[in-house]
Amino acid sequence: MAKMSYYTDAWGMFYDVCPCDVHVTDYLEAHGVKDANVFHFGTGTHHHVGIRSQENGLGNRVLGITASIEEAEAYTKLAIERPEVSRIYKAFFGDIYVLEPKLLPNFDVVALVHLCEFRTPAMDAYGALTDRQLVDLFTAKLNPGGHMIFYTGSMAWDRAQPIVEQWAKDAGFDKTEQFKTLAVYRKKS
Ligand SMILES: C[S@@+](CC[C@H](N)C(=O)[O-])C[C@H]1O[C@@H](n2cnc3c(N)ncnc32)[C@H](O)[C@@H]1O
Repeated sequence: MAKMSYYTDAWGMFYDVCPCDVHVTDYLEAHGVKDANVFHFGTGTHHHVGIRSQENGLGNRVLGITASIEEAEAYTKLAIERPEVSRIYKAFFGDIYVLEPKLLPNFDVVALVHLCEFRTPAMDAYGALTDRQLVDLFTAKLNPGGHMIFYTGSMAWDRAQPIVEQWAKDAGFDKTEQFKTLAVYRKKS
């Protein structure tokens, strides 16, 4: 049986290289998005999106996924040290390309900031979704008026952009904003 293709690194906060997570929380704060369910692709060891969401008092709840053993361990330690954060922020280990939609709730905000960065042919061996199928999965999970967020500073944006633009046409989403490095699309209410 094929094994999961996981992220063998652990990513700290390197704002100058990869500001997307800070820009996600900046976006939510700038728009006063509150009492929302947020899905976040790629937690880092810093778990910024979850921690900031607890600290900024907007009342948002975050589900994050990581494919890094060290990042998952960092979450375990965070949950022990800061139960008030773990109440509103859950991070889990897994391959985003093998998510089961029936196990997921609906979301108001989905941040697929690393689209196309980590989908490898090796994942075909265990029936992983394609990048387009991943976007479609979360489209079906997005509440009316929900925000779909992509990262235009991604190292894979040249591959992600055509997928995103075709998806927006097919699914009837409008790009509502370029916020810092993020392309934001809204689902019609
Ligand atoms: C370059 S790091 C960026 C972390 C963080 N978003 C940041 O910008 O600081 C990439 C992130 O994607 C996650 N990742 C990579 N492949 C993944 C996969 N197949 N499923 C879920 N997460 C994955 C890693 O665990 C890591 O958190």
